[in-house]
Amino acid sequence: MSLHLNAAPGQIAPTVLLPGDPLRAQHIAQTFFENPVQHNSVRGMLGFTGSYKGQAVSVQGTGMGMASAGIYIHELIHGYGAQTLIRVGTCGSYHEGVQVRDLILAQAACTDSNINNLRFGASNYAPIADFGLLLGAYQSAKARGVSAHVGNILSSDTFYQDDPDRYKLWAQFGLLGVEMEAAQLYTLAAKFGVRALTVLTVSDHLVTRQATSADERQQTFDQMVEVALDAALAPV
Ligand code: HPA
Repeated sequence: MSLHLNAAPGQIAPTVLLPGDPLRAQHIAQTFFENPVQHNSVRGMLGFTGSYKGQAVSVQGTGMGMASAGIYIHELIHGYGAQTLIRVGTCGSYHEGVQVRDLILAQAACTDSNINNLRFGASNYAPIADFGLLLGAYQSAKARGVSAHVGNILSSDTFYQDDPDRYKLWAQFGLLGVEMEAAQLYTLAAKFGVRALTVLTVSDHLVTRQATSADERQQTFDQMVEVALDAALAPV
């Protein structure tokens, strides 16, 4: 037990997928897991444990933003011994070449958040993905014929920006897209010496203003989950 998770000790697998939306956690468990058992209900932030191709795996909703996700990530690692954490989420694209429904594998995550300044003061930390997970996800995407881009992203504290052109600065510096959690996932994984990756489907496009329908999002979300599971459960 920890403050925000009421799973019994040992009930959460060492490998955990992390969608923001708790109902997506339920969908992943029901669609991909054999024998899923719900391990968390605190605050409606659903979590499940089951197996995939015979290997134990869990999925835990994190909520939106680094403040919320950081709580679950900390407790999963510190309280339940999670060793491999893969965020599966959606993002906005900053780049004409990165289309809606493509995957982004976040090699690194910049942030406009103050959370890491609380840790590092005036110094900057560069949050990066685990290379083995990144390579595994890339190889899985290629094998499955899924269009995947590897690169830097922004983890933002805000979804609605006051300045709609703000993204152009980040795009000029090569960032592929924007979401709201990866930088904390990577920082906490480094702090505790565990592996982490963020896999994203592009749900909206800040340059072309294209968006995806709910059906399209579901289909690409499922492809992304398969890529994440391939990477998470590949032999190290
Ligand atoms: N901004 C931040 N997070 C997001 C976005 C976005 O445009 N799209 C999906 N997640």
